[in-house]
Amino acid sequence: MSRVFSGVQPTGNIHIGNYLGALRQFVDLQNDSECIYCIVDMHAITVPQDPKELKKHILDVAALYMAIGVDPKKSIVFVQSDVKQHAELGWILNCNTYMGELSRMTQYKQKKQKSENPSVGLFDYPVLMASDILLYDTDTVPVGNDQKQHIELARDIAIRVNGKYGKTFVVPDGRFMKSGARVMSLDDPTSKMSKSNPNEKSRICLLDEPNKVKKAIMSATTDSEGVIRYSVKEKPGISNLLDIYSAFSGKSVAKLVKEYEGHGYGDFKKDLVEVVNQSLDPIRNRYQEIRQSQELVDSLKEGAEKASEIAEKTIKRVKKNMGLGL
Ligand code: AMP
Ligand code: TRP
Repeated sequence: MSRVFSGVQPTGNIHIGNYLGALRQFVDLQNDSECIYCIVDMHAITVPQDPKELKKHILDVAALYMAIGVDPKKSIVFVQSDVKQHAELGWILNCNTYMGELSRMTQYKQKKQKSENPSVGLFDYPVLMASDILLYDTDTVPVGNDQKQHIELARDIAIRVNGKYGKTFVVPDGRFMKSGARVMSLDDPTSKMSKSNPNEKSRICLLDEPNKVKKAIMSATTDSEGVIRYSVKEKPGISNLLDIYSAFSGKSVAKLVKEYEGHGYGDFKKDLVEVVNQSLDPIRNRYQEIRQSQELVDSLKEGAEKASEIAEKTIKRVKKNMGLGL
């Protein structure tokens, strides 16, 4: 059975980009793979965090995983810092990664600009991500398009270590959705939808009230042509809304364009509000109950135990192959 691993950072504002690009795949994969899903709190602290907020967001994201349909009976779900081998392997991989490789990472270059004094952890973020993935002999990593470069690095590190020390790691592959792999901001459809955009109307969060969803979609940036057709270059706003519509409804973009021939943006947006709200309803409904439950905490503890067992086996193999320890 193939092994799947992915992670999401415990921050607020989990949005439909996270859902359509990554989280949705988590649920689909559960039935025919051995899935491990992580809440990557050690990645979150690469930028400043308020400890109380961080703790809350860890459980928020865990509850969201379960509300969208991740089943802790089928999948291992746990918090990254509860399994110490992530940091341990991280150090070992640091010593097998080049400064030049990390300097080329576009996410680092972007995030560094937002910080007055970027931490070493922010620079090193992709190595910790590689250790998350390689620790579990992962075959497949479901993520959004923005993580392609990080996955490529994890592969390069695995291949390098295997070459130097003999077969040690499984070389992982990324898994990207055809529609929804890169959801753009509603206010500026040339940049990706993000958790940190100060404009709340730039995104739709999974737990937003139906009315808020409506306001965000109805005020989404479009163009003055008034024709619903797909062209990311000429019509990034409408194309993004078509992608979102397609991802939630399962209808192809071509089919939607035909359906809305002769209709204005207003009609199209109104229908999109319905489609999005219908998809988010069951998530919103399940979330509150799960978030309050003791089962949530219990399943994370159990997940960490199971994950540690797998991780320890890998660490033993790595240490042996590299000549570390007694
Ligand atoms: P993060 O919030 O950075 O932990 O991201 C969690 C997952 O959501 C990752 O797999 C990302 O690739 C994915 N993701 C983040 N933003 C977007 C977006 N705008 N469109 C599609 N996927 C996204
Ligand atoms: N870097 C990923 C993101 O921002 C989160 C992440 C951390 C991750 N470790 C991972 C994703 C391992 C997949 C596998 O979206």
